[in-house]
Amino acid sequence: ARSYEYILTSKPKPGVGQVTLNRPKALNALCTPLIVELNQALREFNSADDVSVIIVTGSEKAFAAGADIKEMAPLTFSDAYTKSFIESWSDLTTQVKKPILAAVSGHALGGGCELAMIPRSSSVLIPGAGGSQRLTRAIGKSKAMELILTGKSFSGADAEKWGLAAKTFPSYEALMDGVTKTAETIAGYSKVAIIGAKEVVNKSQDLGLRDGVEYERRVFHSIFGSQDQKIGMKAFAEKKKAEWTHQ
Ligand code: CAA
Repeated sequence: ARSYEYILTSKPKPGVGQVTLNRPKALNALCTPLIVELNQALREFNSADDVSVIIVTGSEKAFAAGADIKEMAPLTFSDAYTKSFIESWSDLTTQVKKPILAAVSGHALGGGCELAMIPRSSSVLIPGAGGSQRLTRAIGKSKAMELILTGKSFSGADAEKWGLAAKTFPSYEALMDGVTKTAETIAGYSKVAIIGAKEVVNKSQDLGLRDGVEYERRVFHSIFGSQDQKIGMKAFAEKKKAEWTHQ
């Protein structure tokens, strides 16, 4: 595996790639070089044949304490605007076709939230990595408005209640165990289907219902062009376990 300065990569289970944010001295504050490394690792897992699903996690104490305030402090408008500060963060969500599970423990603030979708605005900044748009779609306008305007922190249990987090766990160990099991379940399916499923769910964020349903049907039709569709349906009829080719 390649060695990075701010992240660690591993393959904890067959079909599962994991990126662990590893900048403990700054509670995983998301400096630009960290984002560059994260993008690079995600891109590699995205194209790796032996990876179907990706876990992104931090430490027990901090998922990520947000964008790097010390890096941002001297930035001027023209620096930020002309160099498209933070735009590379979008690669994370738009370039990766395989599902990403965010395993969040401890602080997940500001941009750290935007990375995991767990927000807190600081007193002088507004969300910059898509939080105002994604959070509003995820939990509705009034709750998003309250959280973004007050910068109020909230618990994982709240995040689960609002539908922002899929699941919460009682401890860090249970979290890592749970996310790995979920990743294994996903990695047990055909990669073609997993990627198609993620694509259609994400499309629902951009398309109206009628277009979205049509889009889903087109992707559904395209699955019939895969070997795995034949393999899976034949295995079902024969009451056997499917041996996916991921083709
Ligand atoms: N950027 C840069 N450095 C950070 C950081 C950040 N976001 N968060 C923590 N650190 C650094 C601290 O400066 C400190 O470094 P030193 O040891 O060199 O002083 C180290 O990490 C440990 O932090 P603390 O001593 O503060 O640890 P704590 O346990 O007392 O507090 C905390 C933890 C509550 C998370 C606190 O560090 C904090 O409030 N951090 C800032 C959180 C924040 O406001 N995040 C939003 C950033 S803005 C953003 O993300 C904008 C966007 O939308 C893109």
